[in-house]
Amino acid sequence: MSAASLTTSPLLSRELIFVTGKGGVGKTTVAAGLGMALAAAGRRTIVCEVGAQRRLPALFARESGDPRSVPANGEEVALDERLWATSIDPNRSLREWLAAQLPSKSLAELLTRSQVFQYFAAAAPGVREIVTVTKVWELAQANRWDKKAPPYDVVVVDLPASGHGIGLLRTARTFADVARVGPIASQAGRVRDTVEDPSRSAFVAVALPGELPVTETLELEALVASELRRPLDAIVVNALLKRRWTAADLDRLEAAGAAVPGPARRAARSETVRTQAQQSQLARLRREAVAAVVTLPFVPAPTLGREQVAALGAELAGKL
Ligand SMILES: Nc1ncnc2c1ncn2[C@@H]1O[C@H](COP(=O)(O)OP(=O)(O)OP(=O)(O)O)[C@@H](O)[C@H]1O
Ligand SMILES: [Mg+2]
Repeated sequence: MSAASLTTSPLLSRELIFVTGKGGVGKTTVAAGLGMALAAAGRRTIVCEVGAQRRLPALFARESGDPRSVPANGEEVALDERLWATSIDPNRSLREWLAAQLPSKSLAELLTRSQVFQYFAAAAPGVREIVTVTKVWELAQANRWDKKAPPYDVVVVDLPASGHGIGLLRTARTFADVARVGPIASQAGRVRDTVEDPSRSAFVAVALPGELPVTETLELEALVASELRRPLDAIVVNALLKRRWTAADLDRLEAAGAAVPGPARRAARSETVRTQAQQSQLARLRREAVAAVVTLPFVPAPTLGREQVAALGAELAGKL
């Protein structure tokens, strides 16, 4: 996709793009693919894993022993031209946040080493979550906590599975409400404003074309509306089978009788049934969801490599 067509996509020009959905539906694939497409179109991009998945650097490692296959412990790892990856480490993020807030670096270090502080960070409800979402937000700010670190144009966030991911983002509103005044409240308020502003952040839900996943995605759309007070921007129906057989094709196949071996006839029929079931769930999602629904094809491979993920990302970027 060219840089010109990218700028005409309002969704892809936002600073934060959250990718959410149930476990195993293709969130990491979509986040990585979109990251590649954005970087290729000229934006300084970071794909950010939340919840210690560490799959991204491995996806980009060209051979075993490549330093990029080493787990990224909160480091921002360069993967390609204009493309980085990171996974949020809440402890490291908390140290960075404190160092940026406190007047002296040694005071911040003293504090983070103290037992009371470590106890607080481990036990206080929501601290790890608020630090995680604030760190995600910080990556795209012009003034980074580390003054020398340049900001990213866009952060693509690979969220943990549905409810958990939305709950994580909800902590910005909770902290802004609970703290009310002071630096925590004002910063949480800024994070909340970015997360909930459809002109600054985008929410992309990934779903598989099945009855339960479609129902769950409709629930997710309602959850985003109630918890984050904003719409989903798009739903990606991933791994959709191609429609290879029409009803007429099948009739011809049946009519051919013994001329076509039984296993081939049965394979064609079962694939057609699956494809029809997928299409009817896709149609239901299109009827019932508020967000735009786009599709990505099923790629017949045991695991997807970098080229396949890039191709899916380019296709998706063209549809958003
Ligand atoms: N369009 C596709 N066609 C074929 N395989 C796919 C497609 N999209 C994803 N996959 C494969 O499905 C598996 C799950 O994808 P992925 O890891 O992106 O899902 P996820 O939602 O991030 O999972 P998790 O919730 O475990 O983090 C991977 O093996 C991936 O290569
Ligand atoms: Mg994943």
